Amino acid sequence: MRQRIIAGNWKMNKTIPEAIELAKGVVEATKGTAAEVVVCPTFVCLAAVNEVVKGTHVALGAQDVHWEKSGAFTGKVSSDMLLSAGVKYVIIGHSEQRTYFHETNETVNKKVKAALAAGLLPIICVGETLAEREAGRTNAVVEDHVVGAYAGLSVADAMKTVIAYEPVWAIGTGKVATPDQAQDVHAFIRGGLLQRLYGADVAAALRVQYGGSMKADNAKELLAKADIDGGLIGGASLKASDFAGIVNA
Ligand code: PGA
Repeated sequence: MRQRIIAGNWKMNKTIPEAIELAKGVVEATKGTAAEVVVCPTFVCLAAVNEVVKGTHVALGAQDVHWEKSGAFTGKVSSDMLLSAGVKYVIIGHSEQRTYFHETNETVNKKVKAALAAGLLPIICVGETLAEREAGRTNAVVEDHVVGAYAGLSVADAMKTVIAYEPVWAIGTGKVATPDQAQDVHAFIRGGLLQRLYGADVAAALRVQYGGSMKADNAKELLAKADIDGGLIGGASLKASDFAGIVNA
């Protein structure tokens, strides 16, 4: 049985006091859930949010990481730094990183390897744009992202990862993929790609989250699908009650 994982990607939102407030609300509102709950604030809020969530059922995640351990990389943050702030999960390859900040399959792969080597658990984002979907290229794009991200990763390392399937056209747009559309791609990731790359046991064990306009009122239907094991939530993670509505679905 795969434990559900619901992660809040706060993106570039919340000052430190606001982040503390939201984290307290999430801890309170999601108590007693059977799902794994993760909050991913900005780098600057990690330490403060860790003070709120440590020792609770809520885990801490970061939104990105650099692949080098340290050195002259102005503006970047390493895996060891994240670990020292109490981070467990790290989002890698988000479409906003791919679109605005030159993220490629190669940089995703380097970040995944560095995170794993340090003991962090990557949440690897994959997904097609609207133009790619309309051109019938959804599976090809998802395959390219998955194969690129996992290049050279051992079975043991692959087992520590989570995949987030996020159709770019559904992120922040209110246009959620239908449960069947999402399930089709999740089934392809698990039954097609992971099975081919790592075999049946890994394919059956890895969790694949859906992300893109997931909300309390559509979460239940999405999460009812056989291969959808959780959610990566943007907009609806910024209010504790909205986020808890998804966790409790
Ligand atoms: P959204 O974002 O829930 O606001 O669509 C999801 C994400 O980008 O992770």
